[in-house]
Amino acid sequence: MRKNSPDLITLAVETSCDDTSVSVMRGRNVLSNVVSSQVDVLKFGGIVPELASRAHQANIVPVVEDALEQAGIKLRDVRLIGVTYGPGLIGSLLVGLNFAKGLAYSLGIPFIGVNHIEAHMLAAFLEERHPDFPFISLIVSGGHTLLVHAEALGRYRILGETQDDAAGECFDKVARFLNIAPDNDSGMSGPMVDVRSRLGDPGKIKFPRPLGNSDNFNFSFSGLKTSVLNYSKKQEKWSEQEIHDICASFQEAVVDVLVSKSLRACREHGVGSLVLSGGVAANSRLRDILREQSQKSDVQLFIPAKSYCTDNAAMIGMTAYLKHLNGEISSLALAPNPSLRLIG
Ligand code: KG4
Ligand code: ZN
Repeated sequence: MRKNSPDLITLAVETSCDDTSVSVMRGRNVLSNVVSSQVDVLKFGGIVPELASRAHQANIVPVVEDALEQAGIKLRDVRLIGVTYGPGLIGSLLVGLNFAKGLAYSLGIPFIGVNHIEAHMLAAFLEERHPDFPFISLIVSGGHTLLVHAEALGRYRILGETQDDAAGECFDKVARFLNIAPDNDSGMSGPMVDVRSRLGDPGKIKFPRPLGNSDNFNFSFSGLKTSVLNYSKKQEKWSEQEIHDICASFQEAVVDVLVSKSLRACREHGVGSLVLSGGVAANSRLRDILREQSQKSDVQLFIPAKSYCTDNAAMIGMTAYLKHLNGEISSLALAPNPSLRLIG
């Protein structure tokens, strides 16, 4: 295993869902991390896979050029390509993966296919203050909710995962029931629940904490989602304050379960470091409570910057870089895998 390649220039591509993202790194340092969101897709009330892949097709070259320019790097100086190969939308993955393979082939440099879930977890290494293995990782995004015991690079044990909806998906759906999603709903309305909750009372309504008292590390959010839906149907019209209270009470239920299970995982597995990542890691209440509780439990908490929590190519670049140091390389025959799991 190489210890370090501080001057290695990595170009990373992430196109697993609707955002086209490209990052350029020198060693562990992010020189640029461009994320281009597909605003046009929003008019259709969510992500339309066919349109998402067409948009990636149109955006990929300009986003690469932008990322190289912002980094002050010439394409000929790139020495490693990292790219997401799953999980995600097949058409979207194909655009990024094929582009990256073509680039690696034409430049005659290695490329590394990256698992998007692993990259969310390893985003913690993008920060100067980062954990060492082993650590417990809580990955909470629109597509995933899982607790992982990361023993070493590539050696992971899934302790628990959601049995139904992902936490972010649940935030998005609740925002839609309550009609607080942005006009052009991007499918990313969770942040609105966060904003409204700041003005609400988290103890006002007692929503259930599904699997909160179970002795395993699994999660379940669909029952909670249904409770919020049933509650919100009780009245035709809610005052602004009542909406704030519903949001805060719902958010508290999600945060409660995520925080207690994560810290219990640290305790039961004798691990002193916890990493929070994925889009929902941007949630202010989750960050605050987890900070407070981990301090009380003597657990070191690591949360990447918000721009590294939501989908981005820098986390793909970091993962590719760490794998490169580990002597790994992918074959140019690598195929996209829309249902790729963290393990197996
Ligand atoms: O990791 P990510 O960008 O994409 C996936 O891989 O899914 O996560 C996006 C998810 C969305 O469901 C979004 O609503 C949620 O993260 N999210 C939030 C917040 N910011 C993003 N959920 C709650 N509070 C937030 N502040
Ligand atoms: Zn993601």
